[in-house]
Amino acid sequence: MGLRDNIAVITGAANGIGAATARRFADEGARVVVADRDVAHGESVVAAIRERGGQALFCACDVTVEAQVERVLETTLHAWGAPDIVVNNAGWQLNKPLLDTTVEEFDAVLRTNLTSMFMFTRNAARLMIEAGKGGSVVNVCSTFAVVGSPGYTAYHASKGGVASFTRAAAISLMPYNIRVNAVGPGTVDTPGLHSGARDTGDEAAGLQGFLALQPLKRFGRPEEIAEVIAFLAADEAGFVTGALWMADGGYTIV
Ligand SMILES: NC(=O)c1ccc[n+]([C@@H]2O[C@H](COP(=O)([O-])OP(=O)(O)OC[C@H]3O[C@@H](n4cnc5c(N)ncnc54)[C@H](O)[C@@H]3O)[C@@H](O)[C@H]2O)c1
Repeated sequence: MGLRDNIAVITGAANGIGAATARRFADEGARVVVADRDVAHGESVVAAIRERGGQALFCACDVTVEAQVERVLETTLHAWGAPDIVVNNAGWQLNKPLLDTTVEEFDAVLRTNLTSMFMFTRNAARLMIEAGKGGSVVNVCSTFAVVGSPGYTAYHASKGGVASFTRAAAISLMPYNIRVNAVGPGTVDTPGLHSGARDTGDEAAGLQGFLALQPLKRFGRPEEIAEVIAFLAADEAGFVTGALWMADGGYTIV
């Protein structure tokens, strides 16, 4: 896959889908910036990549804070140059129905899952344009962008926003040869999924409940999402932009 020597910034790459994506990109010869607020896991992802002979660096960052977004991109620029790829993956789920959600909670979910993508995409695109090269952005969306449920109101809104933002950004950045796509994971076995199951009050029962909804009778693996992200990011997907590619084991078609 055409990722060799590409400079890739991956947010939320200390765990789950982001960590699998960082490993996948590094195996393909990309230089990977692991951006996350979880320092311990972020550093261990980087150490594991380096042990396998890959190139990675960790940058501690809260993606909701503009100055920290800027710092990640400046660190990237100084270490290796302008990014070729940004994977906007950091996100969290708030398991709360509409009637119980506060304005502060709603804002916090949007800030993490959507506003962060805007900040990274805009700032990275400026660097790509300045460097005179094209690029690629992959936003991690969700099945919850296109289906509804009684809980997770703010999360649904944020991921619907990601799908729409992806299309708008793809059109805006076409003149600069920057592609913007989204992947829509279904239910994937990550620390985030387990924390979502714990939020139901009983982790084991919560996981069983999630599993019962899966058409393939299993959860996705983070590596299966990383594979789609790698394809969308790479030159092989040169004619793909503005797409929302579901990787959901059929969740949204049954
Ligand atoms: N796991 C699933 O079933 C699933 C399904 C659909 C979509 N997604 C999406 O995939 C993405 C990754 O999910 P995951 O399941 O791997 O989650 P995860 O909780 O396992 O990992 C998320 C990572 O994001 C980081 N993060 C969260 N908020 C941050 C912030 N403000 N600043 C910096 N880092 C932050 C966390 O520290 C963590 O390392 C998310 O956008 C999520 O919405 C996941």
